[in-house]
Amino acid sequence: MAKAASKQTKAKTWSGRFRQPVDAFVQRFTASVGFDRRLAAHDIAGSLAHARMLAACGVLSNDDRKAIEKGLAAIRAEVRAGRFDWRIEDEDVHGNIERRLTELAGDAGRRLHTARSRNDQVATDVRLWLRDEIDAIDAALGGLERSLVAQAARHAALVMPGFTHLQVAQPVTFGHHLLAYATMFARDRARLADCRKRVNVLPLGAAALAGTTFPIDRARVARELGFDGVAANSIDAVSDRDFAIEFAACASLVMVHLSRFAEELILWMSPRFGFVKIPDRFCTGSSIMPQKKNPDVPELVRGKSGRVFGHLVALLALMKGQPLAYNKDNQEDKEPLFDTVDTVKDCLASFAPLVAGLQPQAKAMRTAALEGHATATDLADYLVRKGLPFRDAHEAVARAVRAAEDAGCDLAALPLKVLQRFSRRIGKDVVRSLTLEGSVAARDHPGGTAPAQVRAAVARARKRSR
Ligand code: ARG
Repeated sequence: MAKAASKQTKAKTWSGRFRQPVDAFVQRFTASVGFDRRLAAHDIAGSLAHARMLAACGVLSNDDRKAIEKGLAAIRAEVRAGRFDWRIEDEDVHGNIERRLTELAGDAGRRLHTARSRNDQVATDVRLWLRDEIDAIDAALGGLERSLVAQAARHAALVMPGFTHLQVAQPVTFGHHLLAYATMFARDRARLADCRKRVNVLPLGAAALAGTTFPIDRARVARELGFDGVAANSIDAVSDRDFAIEFAACASLVMVHLSRFAEELILWMSPRFGFVKIPDRFCTGSSIMPQKKNPDVPELVRGKSGRVFGHLVALLALMKGQPLAYNKDNQEDKEPLFDTVDTVKDCLASFAPLVAGLQPQAKAMRTAALEGHATATDLADYLVRKGLPFRDAHEAVARAVRAAEDAGCDLAALPLKVLQRFSRRIGKDVVRSLTLEGSVAARDHPGGTAPAQVRAAVARARKRSR
């Protein structure tokens, strides 16, 4: 025999047409049970709905249905207790559960696969699983949003420098800055909710790819499993992984947002900024430098974003060359999806308490805001209100900033007499425009940084995330 040197294996559910048992390496190479056993609970739920439907349609006897229900309940308990005997020779989660069901329920177990294929079965399992995970991620995002909103409410009037190009630009409030992230996470939740609609469609009934000859009731299965509807085309039903890619894209944006926030926390924690302290329990030390307190948690979150983006690209590449319908390539969708979910959930879990524990350092924020001529735009706006065209006001203030630089002080610290050299329109009332508090309070429109507006945004966010 050509394969004399290779190790041989036991018979499979599909080995009837083969003259040789599968090669031991091929068995290992093609098996997915090592990771897809994670889908066990959802595989069992799908099988229960399928069996009940087959019985209701007269394809399966009620005795068989009962034996299957009993067997699957026992298997669910074994899996939960960690007592289930997962075997690589049964290839995947579906083969393992079917083998065990047949041990427990005899021929009834061997009848369960009527009018079904692993192709529509696995697509159903992944969708059921992902739907649960989307709901869990949504809840975690909601928790993070609430932490941000609570901090924003507390610090609605706390002034810090806002940056563009990482240069001090204009004063903003810490609450307003945090609400920028709350807004991103609210968008992420809306995006996931939209993605969920396309996840929540039932493939079962498509069988291998063309449908089945049995008189099935797909709507009944959809109802029992909580799907919004049935997949419209059987070929698409077994081959579509758009929903997985969409989810990975949504998850990638969550990670972009977390990573940007992480980057800011890292900067803010650096003594050069000193804008925030985070509780010691989120920091770690150095094995050589005794003085160090490192922001490992935000750094890891920033680092972990890369693997999630990688999974998105992996899924896109997985799909682009596949002819219709199902191909074994699709087995490769699971590990990227699983790791995406695990990574996003861990990162969200680490951030909600971190945000709740943020201690902003008002003095350092104020000092920094007073070092960048942050109220220069306010002075220009003041001159516009006094009748000067904005371009001329910009020019006058730019010259005043140069004078402040020469004097080694902030624009707001220049005496009135000096300021008046740059425009005779400047009066005593300019003071309010030059202070940090006056600057933020003046941006008093929806979406602006005025403390009153931040409080209104907090109230809106609280309504939204309830
Ligand atoms: N383990 C397989 C997967 O994850 C299940 C479907 C197998 N179907 C097949 N025709 N080989 O995709």
